[in-house]
Amino acid sequence: MSSISYLNGAFLPVNEARISPLDRGFIFGDGIYEVIPVYGGKLFRLDEHLKRLDDNLAAVRIKQPLSNKAWKSVLNEVVARNRPMHGDEQSIYLQITRGVAERDHGFPNSHIEPTLFIMSSTLKPLAASIAEQGVAAITHADIRWRNCHIKSTSLLGNILLRQQAYDEDAVEAILIRDDEVTEGAASNLFALIDDVLITPPKGPLLLPGITRDLILELAQQHNIPACEAFITPQQLINAEEIWLTSSTKEILPVTTLDGTVVGSGKPGKLWQQMNQHYQAYKQQLRNR
Ligand SMILES: Cc1ncc(COP(=O)(O)O)c(C=O)c1O
Repeated sequence: MSSISYLNGAFLPVNEARISPLDRGFIFGDGIYEVIPVYGGKLFRLDEHLKRLDDNLAAVRIKQPLSNKAWKSVLNEVVARNRPMHGDEQSIYLQITRGVAERDHGFPNSHIEPTLFIMSSTLKPLAASIAEQGVAAITHADIRWRNCHIKSTSLLGNILLRQQAYDEDAVEAILIRDDEVTEGAASNLFALIDDVLITPPKGPLLLPGITRDLILELAQQHNIPACEAFITPQQLINAEEIWLTSSTKEILPVTTLDGTVVGSGKPGKLWQQMNQHYQAYKQQLRNR
């Protein structure tokens, strides 16, 4: 059984999907992507993901290839076609590139159609050890460009940073630019400082994460003091709790930072509380 993908209007096994080497996604990383988790066969925070996609395509002047209605229909079809292979919990990856053209940094003069690709994989449940022990993270200078709010497929900076974390037996690199903590290489960051949950404000230095927004919403609903503010590396070192958030990894409690214990050295009380709210939110979607 093969995973079913969608390429420019056709559903086909992912290992049969073909694109041109002249595709600007391949040549330049000239594209935008999204990763959407699926719980109980339903796409998580779909409207929010489609809104971010729309904003990102506009930011890099790639034509939006589909209406919202068409996106919903094709994404649900990908989920349905992959149920035999990946079950009800999937991770959907989609990417849109500027299309195929003769290689030139500037946009092609002639009209080209964007390339649209969607694939699914099994969404693996998070390891039980995470709730017991948490994860290790390192800090690193943020070596990326200054348009980190764009979910670009050009991810070389992020890749090198994540690999640096792996090389040091950690799961993520927490990034620091101009004495401010921005986010992780592929995650947003929250820190519990003086009993307030803090996450850096949106702007060009970080990706406006869908999980990040949900956590701020859940904090408000459950009267957990939270705000968006800059965090210095020194504040981070002294934080009671540190979390990393993303669509597929949910909320990771960081229990060691650069080899030093964070808080009690175990996933904190607020993490446990927020994780319960997060799991309940997912369950509501499954039951809908
Ligand atoms: C750089 C970066 N920041 C934050 C996130 C988290 O975003 P989301 O919660 O929408 O998955 C990601 C996700 O991959 C990311 O790559």
